[in-house]
Amino acid sequence: MEFNVVNYDSPQYKQGLELREKLLQIPLGLRMSKKTRDSERDEIHAVAIEKDHVVGVALLKENGNGTLRMRQVAIERAFQGKGLGRELVTFAEKVAKFNGCSCVELLTRSTSSPFYRKLGYKETGHEVKEMGIPHIPMQKELILPE
Ligand SMILES: CC(C)(COP(=O)(O)OP(=O)(O)OC[C@H]1O[C@@H](n2cnc3c(N)ncnc32)[C@H](O)[C@@H]1OP(=O)(O)O)[C@@H](O)C(=O)NCCC(=O)NCCS
Repeated sequence: MEFNVVNYDSPQYKQGLELREKLLQIPLGLRMSKKTRDSERDEIHAVAIEKDHVVGVALLKENGNGTLRMRQVAIERAFQGKGLGRELVTFAEKVAKFNGCSCVELLTRSTSSPFYRKLGYKETGHEVKEMGIPHIPMQKELILPE
């Protein structure tokens, strides 16, 4: 398994987009619009690659105040429950540190909050509805090297 940051519009970005659509959008009856895709141009595209196939994806963006926002985390179904999500989030935290960010924040579907809790993320607010489903804001403080 290889973890990497890939360019917007690269073949790996497109595979990650398809994975996110399959796991996060289509089950809710949504599709990624061109406008939404365009808005991803300035995000960091982190992927997990197995045998030339993207099997995990996460979008990252610096908020400008020392925090990195993580969203659209998805692991291919056949690879779920095997520790890959943990490895991908750990990779995202390395990217955050590399960019000088000491905090990762996210808004997770409530059903996935136990996953993030296990990885050291803490709830920072009340449950909110996004796209009709409950979400919880969470964050994790990172220790930056001296
Ligand atoms: C949620 C998701 C990213 C987790 O990735 P994963 O590779 O399946 O998770 P891991 O195998 O790395 O799990 C790490 C730990 O979290 C636990 N965990 C994972 N998902 C969980 C869940 N939904 N509820 C409770 N615990 C969970 C695992 O049991 C494991 O615990 P352990 O260390 O005690 O064994 C992945 O299942 C996924 O892509 N789901 C569909 C899309 C989605 O819901 N994304 C989140 C959008 S906010």
